[in-house]
Amino acid sequence: MNIKELAKKYEQYTIDMRREFHMYPELSMKEVRTAKRIKEELEKIGVPFVSIGESGVVATIEGKNKGKTIALRADIDALEVNEIRDIPYKSKNEGIMHACGHDAHGAMLLGAAHLLNEIKDKFNGSVKLLFQPAEEIAQGAKALIKGGALEGVDEVFGMHVMGNFPTGKIAVGSGPRMASADKFKITVKGVGGHGSMPNLGVDALVAASAIVMNLQTLVSRELSPMESVVVSIGKFNSGTRFNVIADEAVLEGTTRCFSYEVRDQLPTAMERIIKSTAASYRAEAELEYNFLTAPTINKEESTERAKNAIKKIMSEEAVMEMPKMLGSEDFSEYLAKVPGTFAIVGTANEEKDTCYANHHPMFDIDEDMLVKGLALHAQYAYDFLME
Ligand code: NI
Repeated sequence: MNIKELAKKYEQYTIDMRREFHMYPELSMKEVRTAKRIKEELEKIGVPFVSIGESGVVATIEGKNKGKTIALRADIDALEVNEIRDIPYKSKNEGIMHACGHDAHGAMLLGAAHLLNEIKDKFNGSVKLLFQPAEEIAQGAKALIKGGALEGVDEVFGMHVMGNFPTGKIAVGSGPRMASADKFKITVKGVGGHGSMPNLGVDALVAASAIVMNLQTLVSRELSPMESVVVSIGKFNSGTRFNVIADEAVLEGTTRCFSYEVRDQLPTAMERIIKSTAASYRAEAELEYNFLTAPTINKEESTERAKNAIKKIMSEEAVMEMPKMLGSEDFSEYLAKVPGTFAIVGTANEEKDTCYANHHPMFDIDEDMLVKGLALHAQYAYDFLME
């Protein structure tokens, strides 16, 4: 099966779809036009699908005989970024832009749908195509999973285009590759009073300051130095006037880590430090902890399969080692449930001026990588199903 050759047939189609998605970017959970267009494209080739929520689409391509099931995933949402690049397919939706390349993801998966549909008599099992909304707000993967997208799925594969990875390369790696990203809010309660008589009040601002400092000991003194963990407080609101003792302080922050175990440990350990620190200042404190995105942990066997697939559709030199990254990706939600791997498609090409980092208002991709992406989806699925 020469998937590399077959993919060429769908290269222009994938470029066209990517440009169309780029022109009509939609924010998380509002990808209604995008989802409608995906469904129309699937209908044209007779690929059945179900809708999940307003903008999730899960299509299924059945092979010749019964067998395993693989899920291929593409996120489809855009961002609140004002595109400043002068291109014929510039965003027509004011203040919204496909600045993270999810337009390419949707298009590559549609290209792969065409290819896999063409060869469906040549493989066993089935392929599920997950067109996922709302990656940017970490809700889309959870919504699709809740809607049953992973039922019967044995393996999952996904990709992300990246403006700071060289074009012509696709990065893969096993183990924890991207961090978790969770959010927390701490409310410290004290008793207000006059700034000249702090003894008559309970200073929430001072207690909260101590909490900010003490939380760092979690990273430096409690968790293993072999683990990479970040606990950051980005917002500290307290006080009303220079000579009034603050009766409340509200802190907001984020945590990042690379292991499921550390992630589970964090809220309990943080709560202990927060409550005991507040108590030592006669104040009270509450922690509100929201799990947003799990760490992205790739399976070794899946990563090997991806490596081999890249060699087949490109070359040995095209395979790049995926570094650990502090960014997060809600593809991790699928990986927490079924084995799989997540690859990074390099799209930085100096000649084409596509070296801007994702989320930059000048972000664009080297479109030569689109055919590689669609081929990799198909090759990975075919190899997994035929093993
Ligand atoms: Ni993204």
